Amino acid sequence: MSEEMLNKNTIAAGLETQFVGQNVLYYTVTTSTNDIARQQALAKCPEGTAVIAERQTSGRGRLKREWVTPQGNIAVSVVLYPHRKDLHFLTMLAALAVQNSIQKTTGLKCQLKWPNDVLIKGKKVCGILLESQAAPESVDYAIIGIGINVNMKLSEYPEIAAIATSLADETGEEVSRVVLLQNLFVEIERSYLRLQDGESLLEEWRDNLVTLGKQIHVRAGDEVFEGIAESVAEDGSLMLRCADGRLMKFTAGDVTLK
Ligand code: BTN
Repeated sequence: MSEEMLNKNTIAAGLETQFVGQNVLYYTVTTSTNDIARQQALAKCPEGTAVIAERQTSGRGRLKREWVTPQGNIAVSVVLYPHRKDLHFLTMLAALAVQNSIQKTTGLKCQLKWPNDVLIKGKKVCGILLESQAAPESVDYAIIGIGINVNMKLSEYPEIAAIATSLADETGEEVSRVVLLQNLFVEIERSYLRLQDGESLLEEWRDNLVTLGKQIHVRAGDEVFEGIAESVAEDGSLMLRCADGRLMKFTAGDVTLK
């Protein structure tokens, strides 16, 4: 159990960003930080507003899964108003920001699993849920929801211990969530500004994907497809080479490495 409670002032102290994390809404308990962030975005909150909760009662993951946030982990949602052309880069941005901030804070090396899981030694340490409201030519808002297993002890969660890990379990010591959040905000802003300068994040993200070149299963809806993860397209879609030679494109799905 973590001793360190989060606090708006300690996060703000020394935070080296222009806007990401400069406006923080902090909850000891809320439903889902993504829901609060959406309300904030609809009310036109400042860009970079971050909603943080110690615990979520209706935390959600991709594909309508539940996301459990025990005390000591991070549940954070960041509101952005990106250009339409940059929207598809935001999941790449979030995954790279998590990877870099974990490395900076703890020295641990992470791998990325398509579409946007962050792993340590093959076990999930972070999930990312991007939600947005957009039209073909414009974006009303985008919310990057990030859940990081920081100080939870997986020995207390035997049902997921084989597939998940936490930073404390990997380092053997409690990790400062304040420092990790500050580094995360810096990394999000740095990559977001790169996008605004016309740079692409595709190459860096692709180079960190453990999925590519592997034999995998992709679950999309009720169907499961098997093949080799050949490449990713410009928009981040996964290209799967099936045994019969077909090349299939997936914009969403759940991947299992074989
Ligand atoms: C996944 O791996 O399926 C994505 C999990 C995303 C969880 C985070 S925690 C903060 C934000 N609020 C939510 O309800 N979900 C995201």
